[in-house]
Amino acid sequence: MTFPKDFVWGTATSSYQIEGGSLDYGRGECIWHRFSHTEGKVHKGHTGDIACDHIHRYEDDVKLMSDLGVGAYRFSVAWARVLPEGLGNVNEQGLDFYDRLVDSLLNANINPYITLYHWDLPQALQDKGGWENPESIEWYSNYVDLMTRTLGDRIGEWTTFNEPFVVSMVGNLFGAHAPGKQDSVAAYTVAHHLMLSHGAAVPIIRNNVENAKVGITLDQTYSMPASDTPEDRLAARRFAAFHNDWFNDPVFRGTYPADLLARLEPQGVFKNIDLSEISKACVPIDFLGVNYYTRNVMKATDEPLLGFEQIKVEGAEHTAMGWEVYPDGLLHTLLYLHNAYYPPKIFITENGCAYDDPAPVDGRVKDSKRVDYYRLHLDAVSRAIDLGVPMGGYYAWSLMDNFEWAEGYDKRFGMVYVDFETQERIPKDSALYFRDRIRESQA
Ligand code: FCB
Repeated sequence: MTFPKDFVWGTATSSYQIEGGSLDYGRGECIWHRFSHTEGKVHKGHTGDIACDHIHRYEDDVKLMSDLGVGAYRFSVAWARVLPEGLGNVNEQGLDFYDRLVDSLLNANINPYITLYHWDLPQALQDKGGWENPESIEWYSNYVDLMTRTLGDRIGEWTTFNEPFVVSMVGNLFGAHAPGKQDSVAAYTVAHHLMLSHGAAVPIIRNNVENAKVGITLDQTYSMPASDTPEDRLAARRFAAFHNDWFNDPVFRGTYPADLLARLEPQGVFKNIDLSEISKACVPIDFLGVNYYTRNVMKATDEPLLGFEQIKVEGAEHTAMGWEVYPDGLLHTLLYLHNAYYPPKIFITENGCAYDDPAPVDGRVKDSKRVDYYRLHLDAVSRAIDLGVPMGGYYAWSLMDNFEWAEGYDKRFGMVYVDFETQERIPKDSALYFRDRIRESQA
């Protein structure tokens, strides 16, 4: 594997998953606080109340990254920490935390790569309808204006959203994430407003930040048919349209995928939105962030809305999340994105795996399966570079074990082990592997 000298090597986290202090220092409640405190929503009733206590330990965490030789850190801002009600009163203590974090990263020569929304909507805004409310575009624009005016002198790279697919569909169609709705009208309305909010935010960022580089992170899966019947082929395409292109097409073409649109329109799911407005989601961006974890093998069903189900590939390697390890899917995905949309640059903004790692022994965690996972996927990235895909960098998910949403703390994605009782951190073998790859590529 070879990587260009200016290839960015980073680690990624998000606010609610690591910060803790979820109602402290003037922070307002967010939808994940409400959801995780609602019985039966999160595995074992886990919450992000303390998480990795990063709010108090951020300097140690920056030091950890610096020891690994990481050149960039992807993190997100908790909207309710800076605007407790989502709009209106600014919480200076919240802004101050991000100020200090950014300064500490810059002092360690680590480039801050900021995500403005990684799922933790202020609960006060959810109470007004959240992303279903068309006013959400303005709420979000105001928040983006505040953050870019505060940190724009020190941060050059801005990501508007993390995974609008998960926000809209997992949060509002499947109900497995906050706010926990199962309502197709709500889900497509949310998706529409997220995309329009992205389109509205990009010019605000460019206006407030000199030479800003702006992008969005879209989660991509590689969808394949379970058999070669025409029905399964169409099911696989439908899943790709539902999961990937429903968001790729607006950002790069200002349209929705026609085939899925034609199937969904008669079912009344767009009754609260004006579909033609989606053209406003297409504004020039500087990079696309790609989160990739697995492939999905799809089979047709008679279910009227989407008409597919996923099948498990027996005999294949699966992570603790039950996700198949399929590194070739990353290569296919990158080639597809490059050929279908030509983003000026692509960053892998998340890639990684949860495993039931062996317990630490003498300060060492032998997470060999995670090492394999990183090796195989980095190899796919390097093959994409060889084939001409403009790859800018790779952010491993995640810097450390953290609150894995509905799965709580039992699913560990970190390259650094966290003891959630003592908050001790131990770099796992995968962290050392990553450190060595960085060193090697810069030698
Ligand atoms: C992604 C999320 C991230 C993390 C990984 C495992 O969907 O963006 O926060 O939970 O999955």
